[in-house]
Amino acid sequence: MEIQHSIPALREALQGRGRIAFVPTMGNLHDGHLALMRAARAHGDTVVASIFVNRLQFGPGEDFDKYPRTLSADCDKLRAVGVDVLFAPTEQDLYPTPQTFFVEPPDLQHLLEGACRPGHFRGVATVVLKLFNCVQPHTALFGKKDYQQLMVIRGMVEQLALPTRIIGIDTVRAADGLALSSRNGYLSAAERAEAPRLYQTLQSLRQSLAHADLATLPQLERSACANLEAHGWQPDYVTVRQQANLLPPTALDQPLVILAAARLGSTRLIDNLEV
Ligand code: PAJ
Repeated sequence: MEIQHSIPALREALQGRGRIAFVPTMGNLHDGHLALMRAARAHGDTVVASIFVNRLQFGPGEDFDKYPRTLSADCDKLRAVGVDVLFAPTEQDLYPTPQTFFVEPPDLQHLLEGACRPGHFRGVATVVLKLFNCVQPHTALFGKKDYQQLMVIRGMVEQLALPTRIIGIDTVRAADGLALSSRNGYLSAAERAEAPRLYQTLQSLRQSLAHADLATLPQLERSACANLEAHGWQPDYVTVRQQANLLPPTALDQPLVILAAARLGSTRLIDNLEV
């Protein structure tokens, strides 16, 4: 596997490599990330991954400083799944001057994760566009675990006519259902044992939807939150939304998705389940 840090060296390394399938990450790789890398193989002649902990998408008081940086272990994993080129820029490489041009996503960026993390999706969209410009991928793969992020990227690619096809990959989970996440490493043993409740809450809400109507939906969402609170969580939201736009449903036979974000101790976890 070739490792490039600077934008010019990356561009040079990607000359004549055919169609590129790209997986951007912030590193501390787990099997969820690796599933994207494996899937990428089918979509290009060359698989490129990136590792960059993007300051722009972290709010003040979030975990930018303590976000795990494990480059050498990550490289071993990327080699094992057959990634061809790793782009691992330093902050100086990607932001040599402070980034003052931004991609401003539409109203979608202010819902749910965007409401809890102001400016997050602007930071994500900006770095993803910049990474796309560096890598010039034919295809890029993103996890459905970050459901709203995938929607923001799809919208950006469509509205800015970027020549990249976006593919969403199903969430990879631990045996007990917990969605794999770099942030799971922050959990204590007791919190790790409790953590699968987030996915269980989504599953039981999905079951309840079978007998629900629009009028009873808010009550179901409230009781899902209350159940988490009773087990020591601090939920930001547990909510049923339309897959199309993440707005509240106008009918229960629409394609829906249940999304949740909650803090367990000092760790904030997110998950979702399509209906
Ligand atoms: P990161 O959290 O490292 O995730 C990189 C990619 O892996 C994202 O597309 C994410 O949705 C996917 N992913 C994470 N956990 C997953 C799981 N359990 N199953 C399947 N896919 C999973 O998301 C980011 O980085 C950043 O916001 C980034 C897009 C790189 C921009 O900085």
